[in-house]
Amino acid sequence: MKTEFLKIESVRETDKLRHAGDVLRRGGLCGMPTETVYGLAANALDEAAVRKIFAAKGRPQDNPLIVHISRIEEWTPLVRDIPSDAAALAEAFWPGPLTIILPKADCIPDAVTCGLDTVAVRMPSHPIARALIRAAGVPLAAPSANLSGKPSPTTALHVLHDMDGRIDLIVDGGDCTVGVESTVVTLCGAKPRLLRPGGITLEDLRDVLGEVDVDKAVLGELDANEKPSSPGMKYKHYAPDADVKLVRGSTERFAAYARRYRQDETLILCFDGEENAFGCRTVSLGAPTDGRTHAQRIFRALRDADADGCRTVLIHCPGETGVDLAVLNRLLRAAAFQVVNTEETL
Ligand code: TXA
Ligand code: MG
Repeated sequence: MKTEFLKIESVRETDKLRHAGDVLRRGGLCGMPTETVYGLAANALDEAAVRKIFAAKGRPQDNPLIVHISRIEEWTPLVRDIPSDAAALAEAFWPGPLTIILPKADCIPDAVTCGLDTVAVRMPSHPIARALIRAAGVPLAAPSANLSGKPSPTTALHVLHDMDGRIDLIVDGGDCTVGVESTVVTLCGAKPRLLRPGGITLEDLRDVLGEVDVDKAVLGELDANEKPSSPGMKYKHYAPDADVKLVRGSTERFAAYARRYRQDETLILCFDGEENAFGCRTVSLGAPTDGRTHAQRIFRALRDADADGCRTVLIHCPGETGVDLAVLNRLLRAAAFQVVNTEETL
């Protein structure tokens, strides 16, 4: 299949949007810019189109997809009911990087939810994403547009790298501003529960809902026989080909630990002010507590490590508050939970 690449800079480019909408309505797959990461979109109500997403990504068949809408009214037919907690979250954070899980309506094909009786819905804030949903005239099912297991794409060229020849169209709407996937919260249990941290922080959710539980899988490693609340949490994820390790401890101890690795094959991801402490190449993720900037840079840095042929990526471990909780969640998976505590090991 030849993959078409279409740059759309403004929602006023109606001819291009109509073309992309036609591709989606005909059952095609389209790389879609959003404020979080690029999505791989298909008509959420077309079972055959949705199945093509799993094939193009090599995605496990038990990992359900998020359904994207452009206006709040489009939510009503997708779920059985919209409880007051859900309405309050949508009012506070939509359009934006929040996904809400509720019991599903019958119109949602099993291919989207992988047989679960719940559905994840999100209204993105990226204007081109919403214009694309409107042009398609249907809700769009879309996972991140990476090959399964790889770092999520935050530019259209990342999507082209992973999906060239596998999908019909890539819409280039510029670089993603959040840089990590949406926050996923389920309202299907007794209490709201955070399944995946993202650009809307746990603190933000608690401001609106009061109590919010944090799923064990957010920072913990599930045992092989444990059933995750969010199927996506059980897979090794976001990982470049290089071996990734998270490193805790002071700059000095990190630098001493890094000397065990070959300088020419190792990339250090550190914070502003640490760049000159290492003998190897470094990329700063931003100021030490600036989680929003860490989020913007992390997936690109992991992809660049592979492009540069690195064998090892050592990453200074971020904190657990604000958007850093999302960054840490992704990095733990990229590192397959390998964390080196230099205060203990040196
Ligand atoms: O920001 C985002 O959320 C991006 C953009 C494209 O919108 N999409 C995205 O999709 O990250 P994906 O498929 O990579 O991640 C969806 C996550 C997975 O961890 C999946 O298991 C979970 O949401 N999920 C989807 N439906 C669910 C459901 N009904 N119950 C529990 N978890 C669900
Ligand atoms: Mg993904």
